[in-house]
Amino acid sequence: MTPTRIAVQDREAAKRDTSLRGSAAERYTKVRRTSEALARPLAPDDYGLQAMPEVSPAKWHLAHTSWFFETFLLKPFLPGYREFHPQFGHLFNSYYNQVGSPFPRPQRGLLSRPTIEEVFRYRAHVDGAMTALLTTAEDEHWPVIAARTELGCHHEEQHQELFLTDIKYNLAINPLKPAYRDDLPPASAGAGVPLAWLAQPGGEQSIGHDGSGFAFDNEGPRHRVLLTPHAVASRLVTNGEYLEFMQAGGYRRPEFWLSDGWHAATGRHWQAPLYWEQRDGRWWVYTLGGLRPVNEHEPVCHISLYEADAYARWAGARLPTEAEWEALASRQPLTGNLREAGYLHPVPAASESPAQMFGDVWEWTQSAYSPYPGYRTAAGALGEYNGKFMANQFVLRGGSCVTPANHIRASYRNFFYPVDRWQLSGVRLARDA
Ligand SMILES: [Fe+2]
Repeated sequence: MTPTRIAVQDREAAKRDTSLRGSAAERYTKVRRTSEALARPLAPDDYGLQAMPEVSPAKWHLAHTSWFFETFLLKPFLPGYREFHPQFGHLFNSYYNQVGSPFPRPQRGLLSRPTIEEVFRYRAHVDGAMTALLTTAEDEHWPVIAARTELGCHHEEQHQELFLTDIKYNLAINPLKPAYRDDLPPASAGAGVPLAWLAQPGGEQSIGHDGSGFAFDNEGPRHRVLLTPHAVASRLVTNGEYLEFMQAGGYRRPEFWLSDGWHAATGRHWQAPLYWEQRDGRWWVYTLGGLRPVNEHEPVCHISLYEADAYARWAGARLPTEAEWEALASRQPLTGNLREAGYLHPVPAASESPAQMFGDVWEWTQSAYSPYPGYRTAAGALGEYNGKFMANQFVLRGGSCVTPANHIRASYRNFFYPVDRWQLSGVRLARDA
């Protein structure tokens, strides 16, 4: 090979390298600015609220996502990096026991310091160092840095969603029912799309991430499953349908409930989905846009797995398995009422079928959150990201109206405890053929 040719190749490789680094930096910056834009509607007094142990203060989310980049990228890879504060590793570590002892989750709301201003300075400090890292990293470390930066961006997008679900819970506790944003567009009233049953054949099906593009480790390995013939509902269960269940005494009839669910429903005095309240004989629902009348055509939202399951039994159906859900969803366009649609609230189904597979509400499945065949947790602290939670939780699919659009895919496995209701969780029915 001639020296000229080598020089050309080197120049091309350098260009490719620069553009890769440039796109990583661009993606990083975009994600970080989006988090800050989501915080803009908050009043200073909103930032520290933690109305229950499961939700985190807005301020904590903004700091924790910075801690992730600091811990897994800046400290190991940026020579001479000075951490912003020696105690922040303790305050803003969520659950990574291999890199220190996390501050107790239920007490995050007690941290009046650092102030919001300090947290934003922390973010700026990390951003400056990340820019330096992404432009100056040595080639030998670049593949790991690129992969971890991508993971850190997806991690921050997960927290953008949690930021919204948590601030909703924190604001809803207040009897004044303050809106997160007063300017959210209301959805159209909707016309009531009839529910159809979409027959699905049995047989072998491959599920799990196919390796193209980013995925979390819990989405693989891709593997084959055996499905029996079944049918899946063409759209989500609506508020109107759920009201029928309530009016039929659904919350008072143990025959529809799993044992743990019955204990949860009676012990916690559940009478309706979370955020519903009755005023002058009419049902209202708290949304990120404030209190609104319940729209019977919107998907029911903020129900636990137990309520979803009880509803399904009452309706003579069942919850889909995650494999049934993915088999159908993987053939659908990746569009829906996701965060960028701007509603931040589920909207009535349009007439296409199947409708609402992505966006609107996370769909409970009957599948326990467990490892796929051949799954191995990664070595080191990042192996704690997903794998250690594979007990006692259930899988939800499809994303919600507060999920970033580029954050969802057919293989995405979300997971929560069956009693949890503060995520935007709803239900799509299935039944055996
Ligand atoms: Fe996190």
